[in-house]
Amino acid sequence: MAKLTWYGHAAFLLESGQYKILFDPFITGNPLTPVTPEEIPATHILVSHGHGDHLGDTVAIAKRTKATVIGPYELAGYCESKGCNIHAMHIGGGHNFPFGRVKLTIAHHGAGYEEDGKVLYLGNPCGYVVNVEGKNLYHSGDTALFMDMQLIGQMHPLEVALLPIGDNFTMGPEDALKAVEFLKPKTVVPMHYGTWDIIKQDPKAFASRVKGSKVVILEPGGSLEF
Ligand code: NI
Ligand code: MN
Repeated sequence: MAKLTWYGHAAFLLESGQYKILFDPFITGNPLTPVTPEEIPATHILVSHGHGDHLGDTVAIAKRTKATVIGPYELAGYCESKGCNIHAMHIGGGHNFPFGRVKLTIAHHGAGYEEDGKVLYLGNPCGYVVNVEGKNLYHSGDTALFMDMQLIGQMHPLEVALLPIGDNFTMGPEDALKAVEFLKPKTVVPMHYGTWDIIKQDPKAFASRVKGSKVVILEPGGSLEF
């Protein structure tokens, strides 16, 4: 069994055997998170795009744990310039890691990162399909709804899909419902909501409208196994 823990926003820890795969570790400044960056374990860190609420504490956690940062080429290169071990990839590409296979999917969003008053281009945003223990987990990253979600679900039958429902910056509940229809995952976990007032949503109202997939609403710090 693999274990998935939500740290609030788009931050998740996926544990499979000895491997600890951390997604979008925005911990410092995250009002929902029950953990500190100093206590989070990681062997690999998957970053969906360069926005601060996703890149988050990646560099600090990667340097402390020696975890490999996986991300789109430009974003991985930025992390390497900060002293992290990296594995650069890009959209459409997959790679077999010791814990399983990682494939980058498209995401419709932005990826500029502001540092010292300048905006750095950190490549295209992405989503991830991660195959662990023979099962596929999809972390969409920040994205709009797109038709190709059908293709993701067809080619990689999904056990779990982590989907934003916050609206404003990403899909809202209405579009996330359509995404579930396209992706056909066994289980959906809503994310990227409630962090700030502008992305406040009622996950139970969303859950009540989902058909054909089970919805698991996690509390920050809560887990599910699959
Ligand atoms: Ni973003
Ligand atoms: Mn975001």
